[in-house]
Amino acid sequence: MARPVPLIAGNWKMNGLTASTRSLASELATRVRSDRDLGFEMLICPPFTMLSTAAELVRDCALKLGAQDCHTASSGAHTGDISPAMLRDVGCEYVILGHSERRTDHGETCALVRAKTRAALDAGLKVIVCVGETEAQRDAGETLRVVADQVTGSLPEGVTAETLVVAYEPVWAIGTGRTPTTAEVAEVHAALRQTLGTILGTGAAEGVRLLYGGSVKPDNARELLALDNVNGALVGGASLKVDDFWAIASAV
Ligand code: 13P
Repeated sequence: MARPVPLIAGNWKMNGLTASTRSLASELATRVRSDRDLGFEMLICPPFTMLSTAAELVRDCALKLGAQDCHTASSGAHTGDISPAMLRDVGCEYVILGHSERRTDHGETCALVRAKTRAALDAGLKVIVCVGETEAQRDAGETLRVVADQVTGSLPEGVTAETLVVAYEPVWAIGTGRTPTTAEVAEVHAALRQTLGTILGTGAAEGVRLLYGGSVKPDNARELLALDNVNGALVGGASLKVDDFWAIASAV
């Protein structure tokens, strides 16, 4: 199978008011529109409150829209929650699920992430399922086991290469300015590809995009994105600065 088109995804986390959303999304949309052969797919994932504003700005543009979480149900008595159907309705194509901040702040388990993934796929969304070890787990030599367990536990039956993206985000690298070595990233991504092979079959697993996330910046993007099993990046802080995010994408 041909190498999949790289995905450069911006996770805005709990950032973005109307003015900053307008300026960031419209500037990115302008750049995406004027780049005739974009060698990558670009995605922004603003907070729920800004999805509608962002959707207007990326309409008729290759810049994709995603959300940062969803509920397992399509509607109902779930105060404060947002359903996959609502995300589709507002114009989302993707949803990030199982981010370590959700696993930590909201106690999300792999079983819950699996149920959310199932619901999102059933609603026609593509999913970015996040995995990654803590620093203590890395120090204990448990990284490969932890990420394999998270992938296996977080994916429902019937996922396909077209609708699944997996992001490897070492917890200790998020927002810290620290990253694993390229050899360490390559090792984890190769192991993830192998685990996906046992779930999806080797051929299909080749088509799943594996993103690296955790302190991706313009000055380290090139070496990370050049690695064999790295098919894009999930960018936090640097995705809030248009020039930095564009520079990371251009490093593809
Ligand atoms: P930073 O790029 O800010 O380290 O965040 C990474 C991340 O958590 C993206 O989901």
